[in-house]
Amino acid sequence: RRPISLPRLAQMREAGEKITMLTAYDATFAAVADAAGVEAILIGDSLGMVCQGLPSTVGVSLDTMAYHTESVTRGLHRVQGTAWVVADLPFGSYHESREQALRSACRLMQAGAHMVKLEGGGWTAPTVQFLVERGIPVCAHLGLTPQTVHALGGYRVQGKGDAAAAELRRHALELQDAGAAMLVLEMVPAALSASLTQELPHCHTIGIGAGKGTAGQVLVMHDMLGVNLGKNPKFVHDFMQEAGSVRGAMQAYVRAVKNGSFPDDALHAW
Ligand code: KIV
Ligand code: NA
Repeated sequence: RRPISLPRLAQMREAGEKITMLTAYDATFAAVADAAGVEAILIGDSLGMVCQGLPSTVGVSLDTMAYHTESVTRGLHRVQGTAWVVADLPFGSYHESREQALRSACRLMQAGAHMVKLEGGGWTAPTVQFLVERGIPVCAHLGLTPQTVHALGGYRVQGKGDAAAAELRRHALELQDAGAAMLVLEMVPAALSASLTQELPHCHTIGIGAGKGTAGQVLVMHDMLGVNLGKNPKFVHDFMQEAGSVRGAMQAYVRAVKNGSFPDDALHAW
C-alpha cells in the first residue's frame, strides 16, 4: 500500500469512495487501525477525556498533544503504516495570534503529524490561510466544537434552523477559501452536511453525528469499541459487539462506512 496523501484523498473522493478516519492516541492502536484499512488517524484532543480522565478537552496541553502524536507516529513507522496523520491543536494553542498558531502547528508537525486540526469558523480563517501558505495542511472543525463547550452551553446539535445553518455554511466556505483541505462536521443535521459536501469540492467533509452525506466519517476509537467512562453518544455504533476483536471492529467500521451502512441516518441523524 502507498502512503495516503492529499492527492490520494482527492482521488478517493472523485471516485466516490468514502474516507475513513478513527482517533488513536498510542503506537499499538494506531498500528491496528492502520492495518484495518483506516485511511486517516486523528490524534484528537478527545484524549483529554479518554486517556487523561478530564471533564472536557479544555484542559489538554500542547505538550500532551505532541507526546501522543509522537507515540502514534512511532507506531505507524514500526509497521510501515500508510495512514494520513492529523493532530488536534488544543484549546489556547492557536487563539492568541497566527504566529502562536504557527509555532504550535510546527510542534505537532515535527512530532509526526501530516495535518493539524483546529476548531471554529470566522476568526480562524486567516489563521488557516497563514498555516496553509506556510506548507501546513489544515483540517477545520465546525458544528459542535468541544473546546467551546462552555460557550455553547453543552454538547448539543449545531446548525439547526435557517440562521444557524447559514452561518455554518458561510464559515465552511470561508475555511475552504482559506485553504482548509478537510473539515470535520460534528453533530450537525444530515441534510446540511450533505449539501455542504456538494458545495466544498476542495475541502473533504468528515462527519461525526452528521449523517452519511459527507466525504468521510470519523469516530472516537474508544466509543466504537464500546469502552467509555460515560454513555456513548447516540450517533456512535459499538462495532465490537458483532466483531469480537479490536482489529475486527475496526475492519467492520471501515466496511460499514465504505458500503454506506454506517452511519444509518434513520438512527444517527438529527
Ligand atoms: O478530538 C477528537 O476526537 C475529535 C473528533 C471527535 C473529530 O475532534
Ligand atoms: Na478534537
